[in-house]
Amino acid sequence: MKTTVSQISAHVGEEIEFRGWCYNFRSSGKIFFLQFRDGSGRVQVVYSKADLSDDQWEALQSIRLESSVIVSGLVKEDSRSPSGFEIEGKGIDIVHLAEEGYPIGKKEHGPDFLLDNRHLWLRSESQWAVQRIRDQIISSTYNYFHENGFVKFDTPILTPTACEGTTELFEMDYFSGEEGDSKAYLAQSGQLYLEAGIMSLGKAFDFGPVFRAEKSKTRRHLTEFWMMDAEAAYVEHKENMEVQEALICRIVKDALEKCAYELKVLERDTEALGKVQAPFPRLTHAEAIAKLRELGSDIGDKDDLGADDETMLTKQYDKPIFIEKYPAEVKAFYMKRDPENEGLALNNDLLAPEGYGEIIGGSQREDDYETLMKRIAEHNLDPEPFQWYVDLRRYGSVPHSGFGYGLERIVGWVCGLHHVRETIPFPRLINRITP
Ligand code: 4AD
Ligand code: MG
Repeated sequence: MKTTVSQISAHVGEEIEFRGWCYNFRSSGKIFFLQFRDGSGRVQVVYSKADLSDDQWEALQSIRLESSVIVSGLVKEDSRSPSGFEIEGKGIDIVHLAEEGYPIGKKEHGPDFLLDNRHLWLRSESQWAVQRIRDQIISSTYNYFHENGFVKFDTPILTPTACEGTTELFEMDYFSGEEGDSKAYLAQSGQLYLEAGIMSLGKAFDFGPVFRAEKSKTRRHLTEFWMMDAEAAYVEHKENMEVQEALICRIVKDALEKCAYELKVLERDTEALGKVQAPFPRLTHAEAIAKLRELGSDIGDKDDLGADDETMLTKQYDKPIFIEKYPAEVKAFYMKRDPENEGLALNNDLLAPEGYGEIIGGSQREDDYETLMKRIAEHNLDPEPFQWYVDLRRYGSVPHSGFGYGLERIVGWVCGLHHVRETIPFPRLINRITP
């Protein structure tokens, strides 16, 4: 009978077959220890020479790191082993003997070496844990939205306009001449299309890769990353922040409950994550600036918060914090202004604690046709390709709000990683597009 390491507790005392890889081994006389992984988990297989045929014993002696193997043996409980189980090996079939010199060893490797070997590095336990936590965060996001009446709405990647400013756009040729327009841009966010979606569905979210030609070489920036945008009709600024808060609490709670082993592998401080409970502190941009100055920053009244400012500020709190109502002039054209102060946008960023900084950007959207046309002009955008977008303000316009999270930023924070490059299977950075 075959099973997986994740199901092992149901098979104590049985002889079972497992299919996977040998990630380490050592031999001591007539005993051979094979460290086995199958994608679902890891367990040690202990072989005695007496239990194997001569051929099988010989094969084991010449095994190499990362060879693929089918092992069979008796499942035993073992309180000393990290998995809680051990297998008394009864058979071994080497499916493919790996070549000699598997590049990733036990010694410390530099980040460039590891990234060059990303296709293999993904097999290491820490990277396995990160990808499983990423998967859980995706799943919690879908669950949260589906339980709260949001519909998944797929927005396009090839677009004729910018969503988030024109300086970070990837541009490409798109059938020129009579057949169509000659330029297309890779989407920076699905938001504008999602706004069309909610005028049909009420509440919707998208989830997919987005692209930004960011010239910044920081630990928070990728050129290709996964964004989740959410949008809801008849939801205003304050309620928009409540949705963000509930979503983040759900993501962290699920990670703590369902990924306890993975967080342990990563040596994540789970006590810090346990403090992520509503309500999150809310500061206005002006209050944040004042606080930053107290902390010694020379930030100006109308400056956007830089990465260093965010790090400094979030170290003061043990929960995520909302920063709301930024000066409108540093923000996107679609944001509605604060009726109490026209110079401010009805927007917010959500900053993760422990120095992680911005994980979400959101706002209430301008819903008045004339005002929106004026903003498009003020931002020097060509109104023609935005016709469909402003149309939404001509036929049954409603107050509406939404936000977008950067999946890799959230994974990096939940996993306690220094750099977002480890959070996505194949990171794309300004100086890296391989493997
Ligand atoms: O703050 P941003 O630019 O907001 C938008 O794109 C809105 N249209 C979203 C919306 O309202 N629907 O990006 C949203 C999030 C950021 O908070 C950050 O977490 C992440 O996307 N992000 C990046 N993540 C990795 N690499 C980059 N270069 C990123 N740029 C933004
Ligand atoms: Mg932002």
